[in-house]
Amino acid sequence: MIRSEVSVVALSSLFAALLAGCGSTETGCEGYEPQENTVLLDLPRADYDALRMGEATTGGSTAGETTTDGSTSDGSTTSDPTGGEGLSDAEICAQVCAANYGEAPVSCSVAPKKDDPMNMLVSCVYLSICIGGRGHEGVRSCGAAAGVVLSGAAAWLARATHDEGASVRAFEALAQELAALDAPAELVAALEAAAVDEVRHAAMMGAIGARFAAPVVAVEFSEVDRSRPRSLVEIAVENAAEGCVHETWAALVAAHQGRAAGSPELRVLFGEIAGDEARHAALAWAIDGWLATRLTAAERAQVAEARRAAVERLLAGAPELLSAVDAEGRALLGLPSAAAARGLARGLDAALWSAAA
Ligand SMILES: [Fe+2]
Ligand SMILES: [Fe+2]
Repeated sequence: MIRSEVSVVALSSLFAALLAGCGSTETGCEGYEPQENTVLLDLPRADYDALRMGEATTGGSTAGETTTDGSTSDGSTTSDPTGGEGLSDAEICAQVCAANYGEAPVSCSVAPKKDDPMNMLVSCVYLSICIGGRGHEGVRSCGAAAGVVLSGAAAWLARATHDEGASVRAFEALAQELAALDAPAELVAALEAAAVDEVRHAAMMGAIGARFAAPVVAVEFSEVDRSRPRSLVEIAVENAAEGCVHETWAALVAAHQGRAAGSPELRVLFGEIAGDEARHAALAWAIDGWLATRLTAAERAQVAEARRAAVERLLAGAPELLSAVDAEGRALLGLPSAAAARGLARGLDAALWSAAA
């Protein structure tokens, strides 16, 4: 399916084809192997140096102090190099990852950032990533990693409720940004309508989550800085990952849930969400099409690369995320098994992501 052919009807029929024979939550493909996901963070070099040396400030400039990686600090700290309170690289990256994602990583590392002497690059490895619904640069919280132990229906519902709430803010912010860029009025109106959908989804997920005592993960969002609007290509790159990939995937999973959830009530609820999410996914592809007309060839290639990277992350991460819900939770919520999810993701890739021009 090429981009101009992506519509709610086309997506719905593609989902139906992919879900054919997927009536059981245990149906699926063989050969699934769990994979990890790495998220990257910048850590200011000065902060890194301070953590390495400890917070003791007994005087004495450390200008030219050599760090463990053999490079030289900028000398901006007044830490005591003999303090013994400093952290190891392993402790620093664990602390930074946990501060940003709410839980300790599976593993992590910190290293000088290439071509950027002011920052260190921290790699945090988790077994799941934020892939539920649409994100936005302003979203600062993560339902999957905010201290929620990923097992059982309650954990999945906590993440889903957070991600639906984050989608509200994402759509509202994107509507404002596209309006400021003189995007077609129908696109802006559809974004505003999608935000209203997501308010309803968050309330529905929250109500079910409350029945299972699911923890509430607050959505944290930084408002868009109007004085420094994002460029078209920045918005297009984000839309490619968050809309064309993540929301499209969320729509397919919701369609699965609409068929396989454990009660008529839940099947109706997820079926309603699936219809909305298919519309949101089609909207993302329409936005992608409009933005493409305003980008250079190099920028369009950048967008395509971002979409592919998001697909690869999802192929690695989505099955792992779903597998973390136990069998009882999967049956209740109608979630595919990890193997089935991997098969669905591959099918969607072959029919849509890899085919989209
Ligand atoms: Fe939603
Ligand atoms: Fe959505």
